Amino acid sequence: MGQKKAQSIGIFDSGIGGFSILKKIHELAPDLNVYYIADNSFAPYGNKSKEQIVDRSLYIANELLKFDLDLIVVACNTATGMAIDTLREKIDIPFVGVEPFVNALSKHKWKEGDKGCVITTDLMSKSERFTRLIDRLDPNKHFSYVVTPNLASIIEDFFNTKNEQKLKLELEKELSFVKKHSYTHLILGCTHYPLIDSFIESVTGTITLSPCLYVANRTLSLLGRESQQVGAVNSSFQFAATTSDDVLRFVSKDFSNLP
Ligand code: DGL
Repeated sequence: MGQKKAQSIGIFDSGIGGFSILKKIHELAPDLNVYYIADNSFAPYGNKSKEQIVDRSLYIANELLKFDLDLIVVACNTATGMAIDTLREKIDIPFVGVEPFVNALSKHKWKEGDKGCVITTDLMSKSERFTRLIDRLDPNKHFSYVVTPNLASIIEDFFNTKNEQKLKLELEKELSFVKKHSYTHLILGCTHYPLIDSFIESVTGTITLSPCLYVANRTLSLLGRESQQVGAVNSSFQFAATTSDDVLRFVSKDFSNLP
């Protein structure tokens, strides 16, 4: 019997946000080969136009496809909202997207008195895909939807500086509306947000809900992995960040160093 080929996935985000998804995928399938692109030179995605994000997602996906991949995870709510339909139309490989809302609404056991609010980037809030989902799943607007335009950049900055004091002050400002409206739960509609969920919870006094586990499970199921039993463990993955010259240099990064 021939040896089964190791499975490989590509994954991308505007920056480090997709690490929140990658960590879950790696937890469940540590033997996967992973190629990750952080599109730093084009970040943040949340303040770009739909056309820009579609073009950019096609470019990044094609860069990932230089490797022999089984699927690509669009580990970004904004790129999912804006570009996943086009990616699926134009590129013949399975794509897994990330949408905050569906999972939180249908899987979380909401109780009497809970007040949920979905926080997203600006562009994500304008995505037709997102508004269609809201109309279908929350027709009576039981939930609230708030744009947190600076949050992804605040988080990128925090992982560069590691300045917790500054992070807390910026969170208090960016999320000041949460206490005013007495929200009890925040649905994290950007993959950057789960990276600092404990800070968000302590500053706002809410419980945060993130879609990372669901996206990871969907990835595994598309890869045809019923059980999570694996043999080998891959301790590192291939990582490249875009720069202004758009030449991608992949380097090996340890999973243990993920934020
Ligand atoms: N992490 C991304 C998301 O999930 C994008 C954040 C940004 O670059 O604005 O939407």
